[in-house]
Amino acid sequence: MSGPFKVLALGGDHIGPEVVGAGLRVLLQTADQFGVGVEVEEDLLGGASWDVHGTFCTDAVVDKARAADAILVGAVGGPEWDGIRIDGPITETDGLTRLRIELDVYNALRPARAWSSLLSRTPYRKEIVDGADLLVVRENSGGVYYGEPRGREVLSDGQVRAYEISEYRTSEVERIARCAFEAARGRRGYVTSLDKSNVMESGKLWRETVERIGRDEYPDVELQHLLMDYALFAVARAPKDFDVLLADNLFGDLISDLIAVISGSLGMLPSATLPAAAREASPVKGGLYEPTHGSAPDISGRGIANPIGAILSVAMMFEYGFGCAPAARAIVGAVDSVLNAGVLPPDLGGTADTGAVTQAVLGYLRSSASWS
Ligand code: IPM
Ligand code: MG
Repeated sequence: MSGPFKVLALGGDHIGPEVVGAGLRVLLQTADQFGVGVEVEEDLLGGASWDVHGTFCTDAVVDKARAADAILVGAVGGPEWDGIRIDGPITETDGLTRLRIELDVYNALRPARAWSSLLSRTPYRKEIVDGADLLVVRENSGGVYYGEPRGREVLSDGQVRAYEISEYRTSEVERIARCAFEAARGRRGYVTSLDKSNVMESGKLWRETVERIGRDEYPDVELQHLLMDYALFAVARAPKDFDVLLADNLFGDLISDLIAVISGSLGMLPSATLPAAAREASPVKGGLYEPTHGSAPDISGRGIANPIGAILSVAMMFEYGFGCAPAARAIVGAVDSVLNAGVLPPDLGGTADTGAVTQAVLGYLRSSASWS
């Protein structure tokens, strides 16, 4: 038995705790089946934390996250907390971004694939999307999210000026570029780097740095650069033409929602955000695992959220956090079986609720143990 691995579960807001609950059930059963020891602790993040502690992420949660091997996050935010104005860095006003900075998780891996049983749930013709398999590598602890100064001020003419800075240092671009090239080596060996180097200084630095790291350290990986605006069109038009999409914090946020289209729903997408590059079979401590979707206040409390993004995030936790790829494959296989069986939540056109989808995944997982 490996482990025990310490897991901190932070449900967050609205559907966040619902999908984290589903993820934890899959985590515990998978751990049991594969002989991986896990100890789970739960705490608050986002608006749920604000309501109790008056802050979106407490120091205690940061300490627990630092001590954890892996952190499972649901989703944060909602209209209840949108109006709260706090001057200062984003880390004061958003618990998730504080956690990302405190843990220095800069390597956000956001995969999306076309599932054969869901092709008709996408807006694509089958031949365009069948076989599409993308990985966004998003820089997640720098750029415009954290650039200083930021703020707002009232000008002498009475207008309000609000501003932030998009900034990158060479070392920040180098380390995320390496993550993308490493990821591409384990896939189809093809990186597309996205930027706005035609208008942004940070975009120019981004492009020249990625180019140099590719040329000097990863000559075996194919690299192309695309301007971000064109890339949105090109990826949407022909998703199968791409493999790894490398982007800064803001552009990575945008394109990772876009690629959900090939999976049929944003509810399908997992992520792993790591403080290092992911390497085969060597666990990375302190990664953050979260579905890419938001907190969906419109369906909160109804028990109908799609838990698959959270469940696949748990699969990524087994792969990267615990170095147990067979368990990750078993979870993905069980999800595939559930989709093939037509057990679909409402966002995919079905009627199965969160509990039914989770139950079905657990059922297939149980039967997979006999042959794995
Ligand atoms: C994401 C989210 C976050 C982001 C929000 C909730 C701060 O959209 O993880 O993609 O912008 O990074
Ligand atoms: Mg986002």
